[in-house]
Amino acid sequence: MARVNVELKARDPDPESTLARCLALGATDQGELRQTDTYFMARRGRLKLRTSESSELIAYGRPDDAQATESTYVLAPVSDPEALTEALDTALGTTVVVAKRRRLLLWEGVRIHLDEVEDLGSFVEFEAVLPDAGDLATAHEKVARLRAELGIEDDALVSVGYSDLLLDSPQALLRAADQAMRNAYAPYSQFKVGAAVRAPSGAIYAGANVENVAYPQGQCAEASALGALVAAGETAITAVAVVAERLEVCPPCGGCRQRLSEFGDASTPVYLGPTTTTLGQLLPGAFDREALA
Ligand code: THU
Repeated sequence: MARVNVELKARDPDPESTLARCLALGATDQGELRQTDTYFMARRGRLKLRTSESSELIAYGRPDDAQATESTYVLAPVSDPEALTEALDTALGTTVVVAKRRRLLLWEGVRIHLDEVEDLGSFVEFEAVLPDAGDLATAHEKVARLRAELGIEDDALVSVGYSDLLLDSPQALLRAADQAMRNAYAPYSQFKVGAAVRAPSGAIYAGANVENVAYPQGQCAEASALGALVAAGETAITAVAVVAERLEVCPPCGGCRQRLSEFGDASTPVYLGPTTTTLGQLLPGAFDREALA
């Protein structure tokens, strides 16, 4: 059954004063909760293990994916989250961990979440659940009132979930590239490279360089990652990461710039260790499909 909520999420530069203002408005403190979501490298969509008072494994499509519907969610209760985390991490690898401490307050049927999210910072969230918060118009009014009381500006608003903030960050992609790099087969050059590409589905595909005793038969990490993308049924990339064991910034070779350009566009971000560039900057004047038109 579809639940109707009126929700609002914003960055909170001063959680202490937010808490004080909420209490002054008459909100009741419901205490603190710790919740950890561990995201694994799924072949399709997303796979996360949520650990709180109880634990569950959840497989789903990207939330902002227009294709995603309720039927794309699969939820499995988990009795031993630690063992399952270890098994999935060993088999698939971990993409990102969203760990948060949530203080829950209640005000006139509106849930107020004061969240401290590891690596992201402090946020305040309002969740007016109907019918507890009244009818739809009343719920909107209550959320608007809370927003005004707490002085939340437009530029503090956040429209995506914490996982998306983290998963869309360079860190998640760099981490996947780094994990693949550890498995690189580079006995001739001793130069291990890992690459990861993100698809519009949100899934991440990683690859490593694979060398060969007949040197020209070797394959770059970027080509391996793109092979994994295509084998999984995807044909577009929204971001790229490349890391090398012995080089802080490993620029993709000329051939790989062309390979990556096949699936991205000039604005696609490319994370090279600590620096960020774009496919367009890496390959200006590329030979593209228009040349064949
Ligand atoms: N290599 C990559 O995997 N990607 C690049 O973009 C640059 C070079 C690999 C190929 C070879 O296995 C090793 O690095 C040394 O050239």
